Amino acid sequence: MNEEIGAKKTTIININHSGINNMDKLYIENKIKSLSKEDLEKLQYVADILKSGGIVAFPTETVYGLGANGLDEKAVEKIFKAKGRPSDNPLILHVASLNQMQDLVLEIPQNVEKLIDRFWPGPLTLVMKKGPKVPDIITGGLDTVAIRMPAHPIALKLIEMSGLVLAAPSANISGKPSPTRGEHVVRDLDNKVDAIIMAGECNIGLESTVLDMTGGIPTILRPGGISKSELEKVLDRVDLDKGLIDSTNIKPKSPGMKYTHYAPEATVYIVRGKNFVDNIKNLSKKYEKKGKNVGILCFDDTYNNYDNPVVKSLGARNKLEEAAFNLFNILREFDDLNVDIVLSEAVEEVGMGQAIMNRLIKAAGNRIIEGE
Ligand code: TXA
Ligand code: MG
Repeated sequence: MNEEIGAKKTTIININHSGINNMDKLYIENKIKSLSKEDLEKLQYVADILKSGGIVAFPTETVYGLGANGLDEKAVEKIFKAKGRPSDNPLILHVASLNQMQDLVLEIPQNVEKLIDRFWPGPLTLVMKKGPKVPDIITGGLDTVAIRMPAHPIALKLIEMSGLVLAAPSANISGKPSPTRGEHVVRDLDNKVDAIIMAGECNIGLESTVLDMTGGIPTILRPGGISKSELEKVLDRVDLDKGLIDSTNIKPKSPGMKYTHYAPEATVYIVRGKNFVDNIKNLSKKYEKKGKNVGILCFDDTYNNYDNPVVKSLGARNKLEEAAFNLFNILREFDDLNVDIVLSEAVEEVGMGQAIMNRLIKAAGNRIIEGE
């Protein structure tokens, strides 16, 4: 295998797979069982690359991940290089069984079993005290480790076949929107990684919720695929990290949350307040006069109000799962259309809206225009 980043020949592996439509455990098990002999041979090939210290992109139900043996420092180092990721931003370890998890933590905090029972496999990452086996490169020097069990049959089978715990950040160049389709990964990481499994679209389209279980009250460090209200059905109380609410004054507890993220080439502005449609139209005129290509990011409900050449809808406002699914792909589409300025509507921060606004605000680098 070629060790030099940027001069690798990437093997592209196509697996025809529809992903998953729900998080039901039996359904996922059956999906794993229905992987064909040919699929399994392809996964064995990829598992062998991972076992020999290589790095490989694969689909999960949230976004594509870039995986390596999470207990092999040299292999993990290759992930940071390929993504151009800052070394103080820790990685999530992906497991396919509870045995694998037990090996990685010092203790299993109260309530973790309940959460696992309800939400694993699925888009929930749990932060716990790290055990001695976990290398510092994974945790960015923290004494905690983030772990999740993905629900995508290909991800689960790959972890199982490799016999490894997989470190896997989103498979994008650092700072870009996370990849929700195989093509996004190829665009960002071709010739930088050993292999890419292309298997269609990720069904959630937004990363996992990161939940800190090391303090007294479970605290959301990154909103994601499982909403706060869903967690509250299982836990008495769930807090939102203060750094997420007021990121200008309080340092977020999750290192990844302090970086600009999910950003297309264009400059993104979020416009909110009562007259947001008129405000967006006025701003659009202003930028167009300056010769800028303006794109609008909105919902079906207001789509017809805009007559710009590029208007993209996230879907209906009352279907936020759909908006989450569309968001990263649309952010990337603006790049393909050479848009300079994106004027985006906001969304109410409830349910999935919390995660969507978190990503939008990051994509906008905190540029929010408050109307009246
Ligand atoms: O859905 C996902 O979680 C995807 C798929 C591939 O599984 N992965 C993903 O990884 O989004 P990444 O590396 O792009 O984001 C991991 C986030 C970062 O914000 C990081 O700072 C945080 O998790 N994180 C990791 N370990 C942590 C820890 N010990 N304490 C606090 N935050 C941690
Ligand atoms: Mg990421």
